[in-house]
Amino acid sequence: MMDFPPDTLRDLRVSYELDSLREESMPAEPLELFRAWLKDALEHQLTEPNAMQLATISADGSPSLRTVLLKGLGEQGFEFFTNYESRKGREIAADARACAVFLWAARHHQVTVRGRIVKLPRQAAESYFASRPRGHQLGAWSSAQSQVIAGRKALEEQREQTAARFGDGPIPCPPHWGGYGLVPHEIEFWQGRPDRLHDRLRYLLEATGTWRVERLCP
Ligand SMILES: Cc1cc2nc3c(=O)[nH]c(=O)nc-3n(C[C@H](O)[C@H](O)[C@H](O)COP(=O)(O)O)c2cc1C
Repeated sequence: MMDFPPDTLRDLRVSYELDSLREESMPAEPLELFRAWLKDALEHQLTEPNAMQLATISADGSPSLRTVLLKGLGEQGFEFFTNYESRKGREIAADARACAVFLWAARHHQVTVRGRIVKLPRQAAESYFASRPRGHQLGAWSSAQSQVIAGRKALEEQREQTAARFGDGPIPCPPHWGGYGLVPHEIEFWQGRPDRLHDRLRYLLEATGTWRVERLCP
């Protein structure tokens, strides 16, 4: 197998000089800047611009992390959909604290969100599920997400059984499938700057409901 020269990783280096963050230009609401950065990622046609890494905590206090797709931003914060019986679903049920990171590397942007996760209403799950391609809908019924399975063949058999069960009829949203929202109390915006003196501006939610901005050392 081809390998890369030993110094490849050591010498990988990106120079960050696309933009800057200044306290006086920060909006009062962090979601306004988040939307602007997401729009920037969409306009630059980055791959999966709505992907976020979501960290949760297991009952014994150990972290776990995976990627999910942001599907909405609203009253319930950063919204995503998944299987409630997956590892993340079980962890969230026991401990609602979570952290998410968006990395738009080509734009030298990172956003870190900390908060608590709430379940979205059933109606949100049903309406989003109905908008998904039929194959994805079948997939949700055919996969006990995060459970061990004997092999690929067993998974495909489950998919065939599900397809036979629903035939040409509509596929309802599985009861174990739905949405969550990460309601933030802290959002940090990171903008890469020259010489590793990056800008890090963090919004903290005050008891009064307003956001306070502070700068962190890079
Ligand atoms: C780009 C990308 C997007 C993904 N989006 C989702 C998603 O929106 N919902 C989801 O349940 N899993 C999604 N996954 C799969 C998860 O990363 C993960 O494998 C799965 O949810 C099981 O995680 P868990 O065992 O920690 O619960 C995505 C994976 C990738 C690479």
